[in-house]
Amino acid sequence: MDDPSPQTIYLKDYTPSDYLIDTVSLDVNLHPTATRVRSRLTVRPNPDAVARPSAIVLDGEALELDEVRLDAKKLSPSDYTRTDNNLTIPNLPDGPFELEITTFCNPEANKALSGLYRSRDIFCTQCEAQGFRRITYFLDRPDVLARYTTRLQADKEMAPVLLSNGNLVGSGKNGNSGTHFAIWEDPHPKPSYLFAMVGGALVCVSGKFTTMSGREVDLLIYVEPGEEDRCAWAMESLKRSMKWDEERFGREYDLDVFMIVAVSDFNMGAMENKGLNVFNDKLILARPETATDADYAAIEAVIGHEYFHNWTGNRVTCRDWFQLCLKEGLTVFRDQEFTSDLRSRAVERISDVRMLKTHQFPEDSGPLAHPVRPDCYIEINNFYTATVYEKGAELCRMIETMVGREGFRAATDLYFERHDGDAATVEDFISCISEATDTDLDQFMRWYNQAGTPEVVASLSYNTKDKVAELSFSQVTPATPGQEKKQPLHMPIKLGLLGQNGDDLPLRLDSGEEITDGLIHLRDASQTFRFTDIPSPPVPSLLRGFSAPIKLTSNLSERDLEFLMANDSDLFNRWQAGQSYALRFLTRATADFRNGKDPASASAFAGALAASLRDETLEPAYRAEVLKLPSESDVAREIGKDVDPDAIHNAREWLRAEVSHALHGELEELYETNAVPGPYSPEAEDTGKRALRNAALALLAASGEESDVMRVSAHYERAENMTDKIAALGVLTHQEGKLREAAFDDFYGKWKDDHLVIDKWFSLQAISNLSDAPERVQALIKHPLFSFKTPNKVRALFGAFANMNPTGFCRADGAGFSLVADAVLEIDTFNPQISARMLGAFKSWRMLESSRQSKAKSELERIASHNKLSRDLFEIVTKTLD
Ligand code: BES
Ligand code: ZN
Repeated sequence: MDDPSPQTIYLKDYTPSDYLIDTVSLDVNLHPTATRVRSRLTVRPNPDAVARPSAIVLDGEALELDEVRLDAKKLSPSDYTRTDNNLTIPNLPDGPFELEITTFCNPEANKALSGLYRSRDIFCTQCEAQGFRRITYFLDRPDVLARYTTRLQADKEMAPVLLSNGNLVGSGKNGNSGTHFAIWEDPHPKPSYLFAMVGGALVCVSGKFTTMSGREVDLLIYVEPGEEDRCAWAMESLKRSMKWDEERFGREYDLDVFMIVAVSDFNMGAMENKGLNVFNDKLILARPETATDADYAAIEAVIGHEYFHNWTGNRVTCRDWFQLCLKEGLTVFRDQEFTSDLRSRAVERISDVRMLKTHQFPEDSGPLAHPVRPDCYIEINNFYTATVYEKGAELCRMIETMVGREGFRAATDLYFERHDGDAATVEDFISCISEATDTDLDQFMRWYNQAGTPEVVASLSYNTKDKVAELSFSQVTPATPGQEKKQPLHMPIKLGLLGQNGDDLPLRLDSGEEITDGLIHLRDASQTFRFTDIPSPPVPSLLRGFSAPIKLTSNLSERDLEFLMANDSDLFNRWQAGQSYALRFLTRATADFRNGKDPASASAFAGALAASLRDETLEPAYRAEVLKLPSESDVAREIGKDVDPDAIHNAREWLRAEVSHALHGELEELYETNAVPGPYSPEAEDTGKRALRNAALALLAASGEESDVMRVSAHYERAENMTDKIAALGVLTHQEGKLREAAFDDFYGKWKDDHLVIDKWFSLQAISNLSDAPERVQALIKHPLFSFKTPNKVRALFGAFANMNPTGFCRADGAGFSLVADAVLEIDTFNPQISARMLGAFKSWRMLESSRQSKAKSELERIASHNKLSRDLFEIVTKTLD
């Protein structure tokens, strides 16, 4: 490692910056290998600083320093000191002063994709969280807010388009030099992480939006030439986002122009730079032939997400990086609500909860567990996690559940009014909620500081004589690394009690209180609620809408689950009942397979599933969710320890085959009747039908009958859009033999020149459950279209393999582990963010049976023993082994 013992940063050590920077004037001369940045800063001592500073310590990384001027006077090298990470200037005036610093950086050599880099031939930047310091020396922390003016200059042919934040205030040619310039001014003070600049041969697709106060905003989406016909959906999604934020949150856009640039090389999905969002191109570009329904939905959601940051993140930013959930959790909550309002609320909730359980729950119960607001970190980039994002969004959702939609709106109105232009904290946000809605959130605050998923046990007993249903709850949160003792949490629990006819019974407590909204509050380690006037033994529907991010166990019988599958008025819980029922069969069958026994019949489950599918009032998208059985990782989590991924796989395939045989007729009918005629539309209705039809197709093929597999091949050949093509390939990738090879060859031949579509080709092979998957992935590394330097390629091949192919990644001989470990080490030499994220795939290694555990451990130890790890990877590997 560069630094043998990386430092841990603590929230408790936060102190305000010694200095503030009011204005930044950047003069940037873009050059592939030597970009010159001249930065003029107006600086003043921070009146809130804890002590009078003796020097200013600026952050800077991978910079070549040319000159430093203090109040126009050039300093000599003896006037300042430098390290690999800082420039320290002592002997400063007592009052305000001006610093002018000239540095050079090398975008071409920047493969970490942080700071200024080149994506193909385009110059672009990524500054969150700490990339601005790789562009110029600065106080690179989110509580230093400045007004930026940026002058960009470049060879006109190399970079005919020059963009930065804010509004364009000047542009022109520099005589006959062949260079030109553009001057951008951002009137809104912002932290350095929201700075962006872009230069290159880009073309633009434009649109307009008129805001609620009648201002006209230019919407510009910049892409590489030839991609113009793939921007329509992104533009439409942007307009919907702007409108929705006005209607639902009263938030209006605040510049004359909103720009998006799509680039091919990007560490993340997208970035909310003020007025100039930068996107991974896979989240912008879409045509029916190249993008799936899932891609279209992701584009809509991510455009929404980044746009919504304009208020939650940009106008009100974070005081420090420990407060990351303040912008990310809230903004994820907002984008989930956006999708719920535009599409189906029940289906969105199911998919958000699936995401939470698949990614956040394992994080929270493993070696990398941390609170939604962490109290320490080594590398902040490692904390853009499912916990900060997804659990952070759940905390916002619980608050909304408790204070109501209107209360939540009043609270956010107050938050924006009070903190506009501020760098705020979680406490600031919570205070606004408390004040605006007169709610006590003191105990609720524990959710932000306490890691781990609370485990709640509920049990219902019914007293025939008193007609009383007694519902008892107990909660414990298991210990997590560094947090042994946990305190009880305040949890909103939405519930209903179903009477014999399946309707909800009125809820009245023995205190006389009526629970009209079905909401009760848990606050203590154990609590009992007595519901009166219950005429017969009810079936409880608990945690409706997944009203709190917890693991709930209750004493429901299989009959109860069947009843809920057919009757629950809460569609989330109706779906959950089916999943819980399936999980009982799957865990039993997994044990049977491990013991060499044949599982008993699953006809009871198949019957209940058929009954619930028959409800024609349910929209197709919802019925598609019902048809998807719990995933292999759902089963692994349910089993919890001594996990054998092969046994789980066999159990799941067995249950799928059982359902396929039992429901063959119904599934065929669903397949036939849900064909979508006419031109492709990515809107929710058609998307839902395709989802249902393709779910039926896949389940039919699970029968193993030749005709059912042939149907998949035919589906592939007839498909007129990428959604149907991928649905077929997703089944064929698990089939040994000619059908598979023919389809994959055909797909490759058609799409080898399209870098986004070919990523799907890599992924689909990586998730194959054929036994030689690790060897196939190994071979694909050598494919001319694969590159470790491009994050999308790495995610397509290794991300899919390590996170979505448990039998391959955890193959008994350890080949999957060692393949991923090799890739992690290779990538770590140039892109630490990606290598560290990829190692996250090992986070559940202690859940595996002992032989696989020891194979995973030795790979982790092999990585840990390397002497030149990045800080990012060092933190993840040491914590994972701890
Ligand atoms: N601010 C982030 C992007 C980011 C994350 C930049 C980490 C630097 C480091 C952005 O708003 C974001 O959250 N993007 C997500 C997508 C979103 C829909 C959850 C992403 O990129 O995955
Ligand atoms: Zn975000």
